[in-house]
Amino acid sequence: MMSSLPEGYSALVVGASGALGQAFVQQLRADPRCGAVRELSRGTQPSLRLEDEASIAACAQWLRGQGPLHLVIDATGALTLDGRGPEKRLDELDAAHLARAMAVNAIGPALLVKHVSPLLAQGERVIWAKLSARVGSISDNRKGGWYGYRASKAALNMLLQTAAIELARRRPLAVVAALQPGTVRSALSQPFVGSDALAPDTAAQRLLGVLDALPATGNAHFVDHQGEHIAW
Ligand SMILES: NC(=O)c1ccc[n+]([C@@H]2O[C@H](COP(=O)([O-])OP(=O)(O)OC[C@H]3O[C@@H](n4cnc5c(N)ncnc54)[C@H](OP(=O)(O)O)[C@@H]3O)[C@@H](O)[C@H]2O)c1
Repeated sequence: MMSSLPEGYSALVVGASGALGQAFVQQLRADPRCGAVRELSRGTQPSLRLEDEASIAACAQWLRGQGPLHLVIDATGALTLDGRGPEKRLDELDAAHLARAMAVNAIGPALLVKHVSPLLAQGERVIWAKLSARVGSISDNRKGGWYGYRASKAALNMLLQTAAIELARRRPLAVVAALQPGTVRSALSQPFVGSDALAPDTAAQRLLGVLDALPATGNAHFVDHQGEHIAW
C-alpha cells in the first residue's frame, strides 16, 4: 500500500486508541510491505499523555531501542475538553479551556515532533503525518465559531511548517503533512455530525494513499483525504 516507503518500513501510530488512529493501525498491519507498526496512546505501556512532556520523552526512549522509523502518524486531538464543546460565541471564551485546546492540539503534538523526529530514518524517504483539520485554515474560515479548536489547529499547522523547514536540513527526503480526514465517525465528531460521516477505515485508507504520493518539498503540506491541498 505505502509503495513510496522502503520495503519493511517501520510505522508508529500515536493516538492509536482513537477512531482514526486505530483505523491507521489496521490499514498498516494489512500492508505486506510494512515491517512493524507500533502503537502509542494514553492507555499503552509506556503511556503517551500530550500534556506531560516527560511521558512523551519516555515513549521516545522506548522507541529508541527499536530501530529507525519511516512513518509516524499522530492521530491525537480533542474538540470537547473537560465536557465543554467548542465555543459558538465570544462570550463563551474561557482562558483555561483555550489553553487546554492549545496544549492538546498544538503544544503536545509539537513536543512529540521534538522527541520522536530524531528517530526518523536518515537517507531514506520518511513521512510525519499529523491529523489537523480544515477548520484550522485561516483563509477558509467563513463561518466563525469553534475558537479554541480552530486556533489550536492553526497553531499546530504553523508548528508543523516550522518543523518541516528544520527537518529538511538533515532529512531532505522527509515529508511533513497536516491532514484533513473529511468528516469521520468518531467519539470526537459524534455530537456534531450526521449519518453521512465517513467510516474511519475509508478515511485512513484514502489518507495513506495521499501520503504515499506527496513529494518531499522542504515545506509542510496541508492536504485533505482526496489529495486536495488546503490554503493555510
Ligand atoms: N472525526 C472527524 O470528523 C475529524 C475531522 C477533522 C479532523 N479530525 C482530527 O483527527 C484526529 C483524530 O480524531 P478522531 O476523530 O479519531 O477522534 P477520537 O476517536 O476521539 O481520537 C482522539 C485521539 O486523541 C487522543 N487524545 C486526546 N487527548 C489526549 C491527550 N491529552 N493525550 C494523549 N492522547 C489524547 C485520544 O486518546 P484517548 O483514547 O486516551 O482519549 C484518541 O486516541 C484529531 O486530531 C481530530 O482533530 C477529525
